[in-house]
Amino acid sequence: MKPTVDKETCIGCGVCASVCPDVFEIGSDGLAGVIGGSDCGGCGCCEEASENCPVGAIKL
Ligand code: F3S
Repeated sequence: MKPTVDKETCIGCGVCASVCPDVFEIGSDGLAGVIGGSDCGGCGCCEEASENCPVGAIKL
C-alpha cells in the first residue's frame, strides 16, 4: 500500500511526520510528502497518520 498526500489539502500541521516519520516528511514547501515513494511498512502508523490528519489529506 502506497500512501499519498494531497498537497492541495495539506496545511502542513506535521502530525503525519511525527507519527510516521519513516514515510512522511515535511518538505521545503512546508507541506507533507511521502519519502522516496515509500510503501507503508505495515506497523499501522500510516493509518494513524491518515486518521489524525486534521484535513484528511492522506489517502492510503
Ligand atoms: Fe499535512 Fe495532514 Fe500531514 S495536514 S502535514 S498531511 S497530518
